[in-house]
Amino acid sequence: MNNKKIIKASLFHSPKYGEIEFLKQAIIFITDNGIISKIVKQEDENYQQILNQYSHESNFFDFKDKVLLPGFIDLHIHAPQWPQAGLALDDELSYWLHNFTFPLESKYKDINYAREVYTDLVKTLLANGTTSAMYFGTIHNEATLELAKICANLGQRGFVGKVVMDDKNMNPDFYRDNSTKEAIENTEKIINDVYNLSKDVPQGVYPVITPRFVPSCTDDALLELGKLAKKYDCYIQSHCSESDWEHNFVFERFGKRDTEVLDHFGLLTDKSIMAHGNFVNSDDVKIFNHRKSSVCHCPISNSYFANAVLPVNKLKKEGLNICLGTDISGGFSPSLYDNIKHTVMVSRMLNDGVDNKLDANNRGTHDSKVSVFEAFYLATTGGGEALKLPLGLFKEGYICDFQVIDINTPNNKLPNYLDNEEDKHLLQKILYLSTSENIREVWVQGKQILKK
Ligand code: GUN
Ligand code: FE
Repeated sequence: MNNKKIIKASLFHSPKYGEIEFLKQAIIFITDNGIISKIVKQEDENYQQILNQYSHESNFFDFKDKVLLPGFIDLHIHAPQWPQAGLALDDELSYWLHNFTFPLESKYKDINYAREVYTDLVKTLLANGTTSAMYFGTIHNEATLELAKICANLGQRGFVGKVVMDDKNMNPDFYRDNSTKEAIENTEKIINDVYNLSKDVPQGVYPVITPRFVPSCTDDALLELGKLAKKYDCYIQSHCSESDWEHNFVFERFGKRDTEVLDHFGLLTDKSIMAHGNFVNSDDVKIFNHRKSSVCHCPISNSYFANAVLPVNKLKKEGLNICLGTDISGGFSPSLYDNIKHTVMVSRMLNDGVDNKLDANNRGTHDSKVSVFEAFYLATTGGGEALKLPLGLFKEGYICDFQVIDINTPNNKLPNYLDNEEDKHLLQKILYLSTSENIREVWVQGKQILKK
């Protein structure tokens, strides 16, 4: 079957951190496999001729005055925590884990419960423009494989991990791996199961090795997971230097910083995406850069559980790749739009000069400001770089994932009363003011998977 498509649309993307490109009424050719094969710009000399040639074909889609943005890439989200989004945000991390999160996650031994929640979550993310997501599941293989199937069926590019938490002293009896051996065997099994599933999934579904965080795992488990990552060349996700509690705990146990410990166990590779990183220092960044690993910024969650602001600009200057995550339910919102805004707002309150600590007497500094365009980069291009996949840009050879924004929906019409508006103003308005209502269509791998 011929699935080639040609679309005409205005679009924004961010080829470089802080830089925005606007293409007006560009013509995009998409291959059978959902890859962008050619982009013709309005100023190209053969534009009109190409438009005349293709605009009457049945596989030609004209988005007219709607605006395309790349599909958003959420690289840190706990799928089983969706039922408690917005709850218990005033508690301290360790208390929250033991009293709310672990009891909730233990419920996913019930596959029907898992199916109901995970279906609702994946649909919600897609409705918010998230076309790729890297999920923590629970300790349960069956429920985690179900999450992978739901992503596959609903058209999202899913990266899913069975959580490993095998340390009997750190995790409750009602919710932990029975043994280190079982944790590793189950991880290897789900890697194979997800790889098998992925053969029939055009947009891809990927297994992710998922030690919950260093405090929840034994040395043996961390070592064996590192070996599995090498054997299968798999993605790895975990939490790194999220809170001062976690950071200090790891230092006391190993006499090393979180980043050094993860690296020691072979868990920092070019396919590693570590959430938070609030307390990483320049030596840690050198390790991240050497391994080509990324940090996933979770700004809403950080405001609650880390009482911290990731110094995004400082780390970017040191060459670190940073992407964006909702961290449901440490973060309450399933929307990367909300996390883009929060990235910008908290950066305004950060004094980059004082060793990552917020002091009430210190005001935000100029250097720490993250612009809305820079935050947009984290949600798109930065995500693609973290995944080492051609995602997040409208570019030849890139996978064609996008969201279609209508700025004139009945209940959320974006204001348009100023004269002489610059193109980039439109993107600012979209990022600050649009809601999921404005996202009228979502396309993944060159195929429309949602229309509202
Ligand atoms: N550290 C270990 N587990 C978790 C979790 O579920 N959420 C957050 N925010 N941090 C964690
Ligand atoms: Fe998290």
